[in-house]
Amino acid sequence: MDHYKLSDFIRDLTNVVETTNSDSERVSQAEHHLSKLMRSKSWLPTEKMYAGDNSYGRHSLYRDPQDRFEILALIWEPEHSTPLHDHDGTWGVEGVVSGRMKILNYLQSESYSNQTTKLTYAGTMTINEQSTGELLPPADCHILKPQGDETVITVHVYGKQLKKFRVFEQTDQKDIFITHEKPVGYTTETCL
Ligand SMILES: [Fe+2]
Repeated sequence: MDHYKLSDFIRDLTNVVETTNSDSERVSQAEHHLSKLMRSKSWLPTEKMYAGDNSYGRHSLYRDPQDRFEILALIWEPEHSTPLHDHDGTWGVEGVVSGRMKILNYLQSESYSNQTTKLTYAGTMTINEQSTGELLPPADCHILKPQGDETVITVHVYGKQLKKFRVFEQTDQKDIFITHEKPVGYTTETCL
């Protein structure tokens, strides 16, 4: 049987960004295609299936030549997690290929300055194998943690190449966070 492959996913995502300018429509259609990709993992090259030494592995799978989206595979060992972060204002879709992830969601409600932001906790969810989640600003801040004691594989699509994001640190004041900008790179570069 022919599986839906990474090249099929790239073709479909390219079609999505060429046929709609609406972020919410892009998220919804990208999520639909991502769920097809996640039915198998045979398309994921084995050289992309390792975590970093001190952090999750962040492997680039594809970048749109016009920077309308990028695709990444993230590989998590049980001890890895992210800080509370945003996604530089872009939309995103995330799916669990193998394992389970816990996601703590926050909503950006107000920026007081470049350094201080109000975030409201919006609940914790577990994303099971073959399930997906959405990011659409201002609902685009979260903490990701793998669940269980196995390696977790997730696939992420963002609406541009994510070169930096903001990290949020809790202050003594309820819901008020100090922000820092953090550059982000890849464990391995694109494979196509
Ligand atoms: Fe994220």
